Amino acid sequence: MNTDKKALLLIGSPKGESSTSASLGDYLISKLEQSGMKTERGFIHRLVNREEKIQNLFEMIDRADLIILTFPLYVDSLPAPVIKAMELIKEERDRLESKKPKSFIAISNNGFPEGFQNMTALHICRIFAEDCGFTWKGGLALGQGGSIAGRPLLEVGGMVRNVVKGLDITARAMIDGKDIPKEAIDFFSKKFIPNFFYNIVVNLGWRLQARKLGTKKEIRDKTYAS
Ligand SMILES: Cc1cc2nc3c(=O)[nH]c(=O)nc-3n(C[C@H](O)[C@H](O)[C@H](O)COP(=O)(O)O)c2cc1C
Repeated sequence: MNTDKKALLLIGSPKGESSTSASLGDYLISKLEQSGMKTERGFIHRLVNREEKIQNLFEMIDRADLIILTFPLYVDSLPAPVIKAMELIKEERDRLESKKPKSFIAISNNGFPEGFQNMTALHICRIFAEDCGFTWKGGLALGQGGSIAGRPLLEVGGMVRNVVKGLDITARAMIDGKDIPKEAIDFFSKKFIPNFFYNIVVNLGWRLQARKLGTKKEIRDKTYAS
């Protein structure tokens, strides 16, 4: 049990509380809390636009021993507010004279079926952590993020049992001050729905949205296609 350490969960999805990023991060910090760790939670898109909020973000970072960034993949990278937060945090770290050691992990989820699509974004996170002088302890990648759709993981049920296992092992490793073990990465990234079924559901979702928005005819339009 570790009652001295503080963990900060930074949620990078503009969808906020109703995001898959929040579902994944909330489960992980609930496990850290059970071990006696103090935790704090912040939504990045609410912390980067006003000077006093940016100061709040810096203070949260300052208090944390472990920083957990959870975000959705946007165009093979990170959402704009997360990139802005990274730039601000790096500038602030450069200004600081004494720097308390901090560990950093990242959890990326995406809409395509394959979790490996998150790898570029996780490399960006590792480089950010190293540039800031944080100790990079690893990243978790999840495909088919739309199937969780912001629901608390324990309410999603058996479908996400491997995701839960991956997070349980990650929590244990964080409590023990270790890197995310490969076993956790492997459990977390296991597909929980066959691709063909996921694609049917996701494509149906797009068609329903298009119908609602009156854009059914444009759904197959391609940018820059002549
Ligand atoms: C602007 C935008 C860009 C996206 N780009 C990608 C992408 O490059 N690859 C991908 O697999 N999913 C992409 N997605 C889908 C999201 O990553 C996916 O819906 C994710 O589960 C959302 O997580 P959240 O609920 O935490 O926001 C994109 C979504 C948006 C809105």
